[in-house]
Amino acid sequence: MTAADFIPPHANLDKLRAAARDCRGCELWEPATQTVFSAGPATAPIVLVGEQPGDQEDRQGAPFVGPAGQLLVKAVDEAGIPHDQIYRTNVVKHFRFTQAAPGKRRIHQTPELRHMTACKPWLVEELRIVDPELIVCLGAVASKALLGPSIRVTKDRGTLMERETTLGPRQFLVTLHPSSVLRTPGDKRDEAYAALVADLRVAASALTG
Ligand code: URA
Ligand code: SF4
Repeated sequence: MTAADFIPPHANLDKLRAAARDCRGCELWEPATQTVFSAGPATAPIVLVGEQPGDQEDRQGAPFVGPAGQLLVKAVDEAGIPHDQIYRTNVVKHFRFTQAAPGKRRIHQTPELRHMTACKPWLVEELRIVDPELIVCLGAVASKALLGPSIRVTKDRGTLMERETTLGPRQFLVTLHPSSVLRTPGDKRDEAYAALVADLRVAASALTG
């Protein structure tokens, strides 16, 4: 079973979001609170793709509302991209975590390839509906899911890449995940954040409108 079994044909974004609430395409739905779908308008020329919702996103039901999301919003602002130009989503739509005991802190666990494969049909449909000019992959999970296993964030970040997609040729950009900026040790963190902002400026400059 994958998410494909739950996707209504020819859906718009609202229908897709509603259908995703009941997805059982892999086992991640069960311990999680809810499906975390996307945020932002279907008219956005830029799609930002993250990894999976975190603890806060799982509780609130919206992507990028926790610490990493707040850092991302700040970086998007600093890069001069208006928020209505951005659609935010994730490769995997349920929070994967480990927990020592009920009530203990939930610790993020990177999704496995089978979770990404199971969940990707949602993202493919989102990209079909939004049909952006540019897709920004935040971190290794999104980059590999969209551009293949040979992508390396440190090596490939910050350069526009044109790739053939089912929608025709589209531009892609790889950058750091905001969580990895937050995890960067003290003296190097400003540098990592500046790299994220610089990459988002490249994204802004790629828009034709
Ligand atoms: N990290 C992500 O990749 N996505 C979110 O929605 C939040 C944190
Ligand atoms: Fe469905 Fe994706 Fe959630 Fe798995 S992670 S149940 S495929 S929405």
